[in-house]
Amino acid sequence: MADLKIEGLVRRFGTVRAVDDVSIHVADGEFVTLLGPSGCGKSTTLAAVAGLDRPDGGRITVGGKTYFDSARGIYLPPESRGCGLVFQSYALWPHMTVADNVAFPLTLRKVKTADRKRRIAEVLALVEMEPYADRYPHMLSGGQQQRVALARTLVYQPSILLLDEPLSNLDAKLRDRARAWLAELRTRLGLTTIYVTHDQIEALSLSDRIVVMSAGRIAQLGSPQDIYERPADPFVADFIGTTNFLPAKVAALTGGVATLELADGQRVEVTADRPPVAGSRVTLAFRPEQMRAATAGEASGAEGSVIATRVLSRSYIGGRWQVALDLADAPIRLETEVPPTGDELHLWLPRAGCILFAGASNGAA
Ligand SMILES: Nc1ncnc2c1ncn2[C@@H]1O[C@H](COP(=O)(O)OP(=O)(O)OP(=O)(O)O)[C@@H](O)[C@H]1O
Ligand SMILES: [Mg+2]
Repeated sequence: MADLKIEGLVRRFGTVRAVDDVSIHVADGEFVTLLGPSGCGKSTTLAAVAGLDRPDGGRITVGGKTYFDSARGIYLPPESRGCGLVFQSYALWPHMTVADNVAFPLTLRKVKTADRKRRIAEVLALVEMEPYADRYPHMLSGGQQQRVALARTLVYQPSILLLDEPLSNLDAKLRDRARAWLAELRTRLGLTTIYVTHDQIEALSLSDRIVVMSAGRIAQLGSPQDIYERPADPFVADFIGTTNFLPAKVAALTGGVATLELADGQRVEVTADRPPVAGSRVTLAFRPEQMRAATAGEASGAEGSVIATRVLSRSYIGGRWQVALDLADAPIRLETEVPPTGDELHLWLPRAGCILFAGASNGAA
């Protein structure tokens, strides 16, 4: 068991700064997820930890052991690092049975036969694949193959686990099941883990902390709640979950409450932890689940504001409706159990459910 320290990691490919001064400290037993759009540097960061790629700068230590230090010219080869790696393409040996696939890393490490047998049985039990020990990979489902790939990694007791989109080849249902299973396994194993995914549900549900990356840099590092409820900037708010963005002007500031004026002159009051400058342009951001249709006769008050919107479209998504609305010439989205009937809809927006960002933004970085 070990902690992992990445300090000032830099990796350039020509003029592209694939990883641009990234520092992350993963505590012993912690599960940290790298999340971000394609090309933001997730796999490059993981490859640097595993020793599959040599970075241009920075330092990587695991449990006090230096894996890489550009200043001191230290670069341990992958076989001396002992990281457990699982990739999206799990590449089992097709001509070997499940048991032989799992035995392979132990054979390489010259583990004695009796010990090898015991460890294979243990790890296959752990991933619930014991009954399949004598099958070949083509006789298994994608999810089962994934579990064998994980078993093959866990069997040699890696000091840290590096998982690069291990579930992305699975269909939605299987992926859901694999996620639940992985969540349970991580609780049992308590291995220090870096997990890479595009999938925000996976990131939010599995992680102790999430690192949101953008163009080789860390946009935000925090708990799932921090990232979702207190996004550092519009990019993070837009990347995780659905966020509505509206341009607004700060019309007044009273205590911790800002009164915003929207483009059509309607006013919204929001709680402002970091008060914006009066008269400045801001972006009002809120999640679809934070607002609701106003009840008949409901008016703005100390808890929130009622605002008029125009209904653009409604679609049934199973159990509830997704409604596209126009608010002050900006598109916003609402999810509701009861679809609006007319062309107009009054929304209730709670003061505390809104986030303010300085300047105009639609979230896209
Ligand atoms: N061997 C390479 N040669 C040149 N450029 C590379 C190489 N590997 C990665 N890159 C570039 O570095 C950047 C980061 O790539 P990386 O694979 O880390 O992204 P990622 O976040 O894992 O993306 P994805 O979600 O698509 O897997 C990209 O711009 C990519 O094109
Ligand atoms: Mg990748």
